[in-house]
Amino acid sequence: MTLIPFDDRDGFIWFDGEMVPWREAKIHVINHGLHYGSSIFEGERCYNGKIFKSLEHTARLFNSAEILGMSIPFTPDEITAAKDAVLKANNLTDAYVRPVAWRGSEQMGIGAQLAKTHVAIAAWQWPSYFSEELREKGIAMITSPWKKPRPDTAPCHAKAAGLYMINTISKHFAENQGYNDALMFDYRGYPVEATGANLFRIKNKILRTPEPDCFLNGLTRQTVIELARELGYTVEIDHITEEDLYAADEVFLTGTATELTAVGKINQTQYVVGPVTRHLRESYSKLVRGQAYK
Ligand SMILES: Cc1ncc(COP(=O)(O)O)c(C=O)c1O
Repeated sequence: MTLIPFDDRDGFIWFDGEMVPWREAKIHVINHGLHYGSSIFEGERCYNGKIFKSLEHTARLFNSAEILGMSIPFTPDEITAAKDAVLKANNLTDAYVRPVAWRGSEQMGIGAQLAKTHVAIAAWQWPSYFSEELREKGIAMITSPWKKPRPDTAPCHAKAAGLYMINTISKHFAENQGYNDALMFDYRGYPVEATGANLFRIKNKILRTPEPDCFLNGLTRQTVIELARELGYTVEIDHITEEDLYAADEVFLTGTATELTAVGKINQTQYVVGPVTRHLRESYSKLVRGQAYK
């Protein structure tokens, strides 16, 4: 695989209020975000020049900051405008947008209340999280040995960089065994999500997705619940048991990067990429582009 390093690209990054050349968007190695994980971020997609649910993503960024006690030195309106400015500066109309905020270098140590919060926003082309071929046959998942922690053990409603440590080691675990992604179980033993996407199962045309009580309530998840109901499907918000998941007719994931991705296999159980998943995938694809989907 040819990798284009992310610190050596053309373009511009919005950095603490200024648009700076991509390669110059740098920070010092002694900073609190890097050493202690005080960093939060967003992942958004722009379709035909418009960021889907931009205001909701901005609101989640501020909510994540608040959960971690970080104070973003810009208003939500300024961040929303900066995202559009980044897309314009980079001439992008269909792209992934990545705002990130972190505690800086002013103070080191566990306590860092005097450290300033910095913000950067980048955007780049990222057509599909999984290849088209994989999306067609459905991705293969394996159970992660790592669990999503109890809500009083980790700030699970924040999109916080530190929480992704579990997801990255789970994803690597899956890839090292020839799978595309890991299935994360929660501390109670329910399957709840993938490493960067929420989980839905379909049985007899009824959808079910767990209550996001210990993991991120994805904006795509919320969109797909609404969309499915609008299209006449019943959506249950409740635990999925492992047995229920294996007995499902179809399984799919939702997330900004992955959009709506069918699952073709979980451990030894195979699934078809069925009609409900296809219907919702097509409708979602139209919805985010502002096209008629009914
Ligand atoms: C762990 C995790 N769960 C769920 C999601 C889905 O969230 P959203 O649909 O808001 O992108 C993401 C992606 O951001 C994620 O990283």
